[in-house]
Parts: sequence; C-alpha cells; structure tokens
Amino acid sequence: MNIIHLSAECYPVAKVGGLADVVGALPKYQNSATVTSQVIMPFYNNKFTKAHRFSSIYNAELLLGETSFEFRILKLENSPIDFDLFFVDVPKLLFKDYVYSSDDTERFLAFQIAALDWLLTIDQYPAIIHCHDHHTGLVPFMLQESYKYEAFRKTPNILTIHNAQYQGWFSHDKVNLIPSFNFNNVGLLDWGGVINPLAAAIKCAWRVTTVSPSYMEELKTAANGLEHLLSHEHAKCVGILNGIDWKVWNPETDDFIVQKYSVDTLAEGRLANKKHLCDTFKLDSNKPLFAFIGRLVGEKGSDLFPEAFKTALKTNKLSILLLGSGNKDVESALEDLKEETEGNYNAFIGYDEALSHIIYAGADFLLMPSRVEPCGLNQMYALRYGTIPIVRSIGGLKDTVVDISEDNGFGICHEEATASAIVTAFERAVKLYEDQARFNTIRTHIMSIDHSWDASARQYIELYNAIN
Ligand code: ADP
Ligand code: GLC
Repeated sequence: MNIIHLSAECYPVAKVGGLADVVGALPKYQNSATVTSQVIMPFYNNKFTKAHRFSSIYNAELLLGETSFEFRILKLENSPIDFDLFFVDVPKLLFKDYVYSSDDTERFLAFQIAALDWLLTIDQYPAIIHCHDHHTGLVPFMLQESYKYEAFRKTPNILTIHNAQYQGWFSHDKVNLIPSFNFNNVGLLDWGGVINPLAAAIKCAWRVTTVSPSYMEELKTAANGLEHLLSHEHAKCVGILNGIDWKVWNPETDDFIVQKYSVDTLAEGRLANKKHLCDTFKLDSNKPLFAFIGRLVGEKGSDLFPEAFKTALKTNKLSILLLGSGNKDVESALEDLKEETEGNYNAFIGYDEALSHIIYAGADFLLMPSRVEPCGLNQMYALRYGTIPIVRSIGGLKDTVVDISEDNGFGICHEEATASAIVTAFERAVKLYEDQARFNTIRTHIMSIDHSWDASARQYIELYNAIN
C-alpha cells in the first residue's frame, strides 16, 4: 500500500513546530513490508535545501485562476531520512526562506495543485492521500469535486488536524483560484461566510484524525468554531495520539547534548547537561531548574510567564530558563525580567534546535501551561530524557501526563491556565525536588515510558486498511 503524506513542514527539512516532527517521523515507522510511505512538501530556500542534492522528476505549469506558474517536482537524492521525500518547487511562490507568510493562500494552493497534477501522471496512484493541517485542506475537496481530478474520486484521503487554531481562511473573492468544480457545491468550501480549508477538509475527507483523543473531544465540544461540524461528522473522526521519534530523541545517542546517558547513568549524565546549561546561562545549578521550550503564543500560555516567574522567583528556591520566540510583547516582557532576576532566570529568545535538546537533557522540570494543546511533543521528549513535565491538563497533555498525587503518577498537572496555577505548580515541584529519593525514582520511571511511534503508526495503518 502506497501512502503519500502532504505537508507544509517535515523535519529535518523545514520545521516551525511539532507538525514537522510528526511528518518527519510517522512515515519511517509506517514503512514496512506492506506499506510504503512517502512525503511531498514545498521546496523552500533554506539551509537544508542548500545543503542537499535533488533530481528533477517532473516539469509543468499550473494554473492559479488565470495565472500560470512553472513548477517542478524534485526528489531528494541520497536521502538521510528513511523514506522518499518529494518537493513541489514553484519558484515564484514557494521558494522563500520562510515557511509561512501573508500570501499563504496562493502559496499553499499552488503546492496542493502541483502535487495533485503530478500524482495524476504517475503510473500507480497512491492508495491513500494523507493531508496534514489546513495547508493541504483543499486537497480532499479537490479530489471530490474538481473536474480535473476525476481520476482520484475513488482514492481515499485522510485529514490529520494538528492544530485547529489555524484554519487557512480566505475570502470568496479568491474562489476562482481553485480548479473548476460544480459551483452548486461551493458550500462545501464555506464555513462562517468565508472559505475555510480546514472545514472543507473535515467535510470532504474520508476520515479525520486529531493528534490526541482528548483534543478530538475538546474540538467537538468547546467553542472553537468547528464544534458543530465535527460533531456532525463524528462517525469518521478519531483521535490518534502522536508518538515521538526514538531515533532522534534518545539521550543515549543524542549528539546535541553535552553528555549522553541512559537510565542507568541518568544522575551523572543529567547533572553534566544541567551544569553546562547553568554555566552558559549563569544560573545556580544547585537549585531545581525549570524550563520552557516553545512558541510564545496565546495557545501555549506563555503570556502568563512574566507574572508567574516574578512571583515564583521571589522564593529564591528555583531557577528558570526559557527558549522560545513569538509574540513581541511577551518576548520583551521576558527579556525585561532578566534585569531583576539575574542568576535565577534567563531566556534565549529565538529558535535553536541543539539548545532544545540540551534543555530536555538538563532541566529538572519542563513547563507547559497550554491553553490549547492538540498533542504536545515536548512533554514526551521531556519524559524520554528524564525531565518531569508540569502541564495544564488539556488535549494531549491530559492523555500523556499523570499527576504525582495519583497511583504511578509522574508529572505535575494543573487545571487552570493562570499565573497563580503555575506558581502553585512551582511550589509542588520544589517540594518534590526536595524529596530527592522520590524525585529520582520518578525520573527513572519516566525514561522508560514508551511513547515511540510503533503503536500510533499501527493505528494509522488500521485506519488506512479500513478505507482502502
Ligand atoms: P507546537 O507544534 O504547537 O509548537 P509541539 O510540542 O508539538 O508544539 O512541538 C514543538 C516542537 O518545536 C518541539 O520539537 C520543540 O522542541 C520545538 N521548538 C519549539 N520552539 C522551539 C525553539 N524556540 N527552539 C527549538 N525548538 C523549538
Ligand atoms: C501542533 C500542535 C501540537 C502537536 C503538533 C504535532 O502544532 O500545536 O500540540 O503536538 O502539532 O502534531
């Protein structure tokens, strides 16, 4: 069975967040004797594309409304990844040094059309077309409705929703950019008076998945704009929890970290990484080190940090290190905090893949006070590296972290996304840290929790089999 994944991101080629990690890992774990899983993504002008070789396997022109654009399909040569990776190169639209921008409607529509135009020409059509997020959300609609893609009417397709906060909305003025279809069915594209690619995909895809079971339930019930649609389509919806790539995220083999370690050498290994972090960021390594890694956006609750950190740091019992970028006001509030909390707090505003690995290996606790978290990979990376997660119980965080007050609990959970809930979580964590015997037992336990992709990759394959 041939599966083709369409995605805007794929690690290690282009990564903004967890979507890249998932699309860079899932195909590896799906590939087996019976399944061949491949990825097609946009060709961006970035470090990865500059450093690798590609062969051009198809050239043509695509039409976006009245305008035609030349495009090529490229294939990565000598792939360092364990699956075939194809690229849509539309030089005038996609080949930029960023992934997302303000002209995404045209860019990602061109990506989707070019990918389908090419798939129409190959000898054996894919058994399943697997779309990820709104950037590929018009594919299920086009497969079902566009005259051009009639040959694909019987090709099953799946939408995976990684994040429904972003839906790719655009106005009806641009409807003519979509290859022609029976206009009586234009309502399939509409949700709330605008064209909504994510909603269109929910309506047209053969199956819809979210990246955790709890997030699917939240989307069906919380007021997020899609609740009625998802409740209506519930029969084809299922939540499948993400896994993590054990080949990339493994403290025994991780070349980014300062000292590699296993569950048997956890104490020494983690201390070396913690010391390195504390030396680099001028923090006291004798105190418990709390970290945050992520996008500084409302979903992640990062706007709560300035107040929560200020209060928690007054106790002088802990250190905090933050790695992230996003909202400019939050960035500057987090920068300003450095002045009054020197020696106990530091922040690196930016994106740094290597540093993120060292933080997972060296921090004692990882903070995730998310307002919305479809799955969250950070808490699973933290577990794998022996760092105790502190999470708001929501979405995938609820599905993966059990509070220490429960049997076999290993994390610190809070219900509210508020500064005071974060401060209380800090207090509980400091208490746990002071009980070194319990703290170490928990660290040893969490390193062996299995969040590898094997089980989830199997669930996706079962889903493919059900519709193929
Ligand atoms: P989301 O996709 O919503 O951002 P996830 O938890 O699924 O959240 O995945 C985030 C991924 O991005 C993780 O691999 C995390 O380590 C990484 N990441 C986020 N921000 C940064 C950053 N500033 N520097 C390095 N890695 C980051
Ligand atoms: C999204 C979500 C995150 C999830 C990731 C990978 O970016 O915000 O929770 O882990 O996708 O599925």
